[in-house]
Amino acid sequence: MASLGMYRQLSRSLSSASASSLFSRGGNATRSRVSRKYSNAAAAVVEDPIIAPVSVNYKQLLIDGKFVNAASGKTLPTLDPRTGDVIAHVAEADAEDINRAVAAARKAFDEGPWPKMPAYERQRILLRFADLLEKHNDELAALETWDSGKPYEQCAKVEVPMMTRLVRYYAGWADKIHGLTAPADGPYHVETLHEPIGVVGQIIPWNFPLLMFTWKIGPALACGNTIVLKTSDLTPLSALFASNLLHEAGLPPGVLNVVSGFGPTAGAAIASHMDVDKVAFTGSTNTGKAILEMAAKSNLKPVTLELGGKSPFIVCEDADIDKAVELAHFALFFNQGQCCCAGSRTFVHERVYDEFVEKAKARALKRTVGDPFKGGIEQGPQIDMKQFEKIMKYIKSGVESGATLEAGGDRLGNKGYYIKPTVFSNVKDDMLIAKDEIFGPVQSILKFRDLDEVIRRANNTHYGLAAGVLTQNIETAHTLTRALRVGSVWVNCFDIFDAAIPFGGYKMSGQGREKGMYSLSNYLQVKAVITPLKNPAWL
Ligand code: NAI
Ligand code: MG
Repeated sequence: MASLGMYRQLSRSLSSASASSLFSRGGNATRSRVSRKYSNAAAAVVEDPIIAPVSVNYKQLLIDGKFVNAASGKTLPTLDPRTGDVIAHVAEADAEDINRAVAAARKAFDEGPWPKMPAYERQRILLRFADLLEKHNDELAALETWDSGKPYEQCAKVEVPMMTRLVRYYAGWADKIHGLTAPADGPYHVETLHEPIGVVGQIIPWNFPLLMFTWKIGPALACGNTIVLKTSDLTPLSALFASNLLHEAGLPPGVLNVVSGFGPTAGAAIASHMDVDKVAFTGSTNTGKAILEMAAKSNLKPVTLELGGKSPFIVCEDADIDKAVELAHFALFFNQGQCCCAGSRTFVHERVYDEFVEKAKARALKRTVGDPFKGGIEQGPQIDMKQFEKIMKYIKSGVESGATLEAGGDRLGNKGYYIKPTVFSNVKDDMLIAKDEIFGPVQSILKFRDLDEVIRRANNTHYGLAAGVLTQNIETAHTLTRALRVGSVWVNCFDIFDAAIPFGGYKMSGQGREKGMYSLSNYLQVKAVITPLKNPAWL
């Protein structure tokens, strides 16, 4: 995710940052517990982890405005991706806790004050929340980095500010949501009421914990709904901190309930709950399908899904090659490659292919990988061992299927989940690395000859989330933007994610749109009210 010229901001902040630590090092205090399986791979170049400059103050479930333990008393460990060490044990919700959270949200919806409050008051609470986010920007960023392995500068300078911006955007909507009057063929007064939908269940992933939290709660709260939100078991910390700030800003108890927990237990309990009126999900396509099924089998709650992708990034023969190389690199490697919209199929025109591959390789070899708390770092570790192993498997499959490994290909260091920026050329459409969502720092470069061919190949996937188009020819740009079956097309840019820009997928990349005014409709019911008119002056 990126916004506000995020790409520019990020490269500026990285080039101005010193390569030294932003914070102090942990020495031997934090010992690696990671499996030794890969220990004889590349030399250990990742130094001892820098001590995270923040402490974990919120580890419980947030239900009805209070931090409480799980009914079972169970906890789950959240790990530091730099080492695999435990950061904290957080309360682990299961079905009973979801029942408690849904009951609190139901009460806050049915009895108020939230939906009954003037929209202006809701707006003011959200605006105060944004001010508090700004005040606690660096703490939130540090928690996010510690729990997810993202570069601290990316969190502090881009993601938390984007989150704050998004809260202000939806605060702005709160008092502008209303229905219409509509004409009828007979003497009737017809009005539409835009009502909050009720208790909303929201399930978010680990790749952008704070941004996904905000994409979900922003529009839901602006519309007057109440919420039960489940974070990913891999990254529960930042949303708890942020939710505490939202209560400090004046959010009434029960309006936002936040639980940590696992998908098949807590997540499934939300998706199949009979008293949850709507569910919104971001994550894998398989889990999205399971959620749709649970919604259908329970109370037929409407579902929005933001799922996986295998987005084409198309470099035409007239593109500025240096710019294309840099953007393609960003499109794939940003956030350790853990982006649903990553430009993971880099299609390059045959006339510029060789030059592009050489430069893409050189750029990947220059990418700075290391402790995400260190200044100037572009890439931290992958989120966990499972994702690490999945990515390593795809790299192996790329080599075995005959793609040319230009750069990377193995892990970095011998602890944590660091992977060297990896580039494959001579990738063919039927290779697994060209078909599956890898969700890691692995760039696949494919060759194409003409527009018709690249359109057909770009669309030949079950996914349809996003695409990048690099050309200086406006006609080529128009041809491609209309032909590509995807929810977002970035022309001569990538990952522009401003608050008002809708985001979502075609095909198996999802249903519905998030952000912008489009996401409001996910959280509203439209009620038509029809009243007879007596001797109306006009119709
Ligand atoms: P996932 O889709 O299983 O997890 C996402 C969220 O769904 C988490 O909060 C999880 O607890 C919850 N969940 C899992 N199973 C559930 C169930 N049966 N019922 C209800 N909720 C459930 O994704 P995971 O396992 O973390 O990653 C697997 C792959 O998914 C990644 O390798 C990547 O390809 C893709 N992914 C895509 C994301 C996106 O932004 N679209 C984000 C994260 C992962
Ligand atoms: Mg973690």
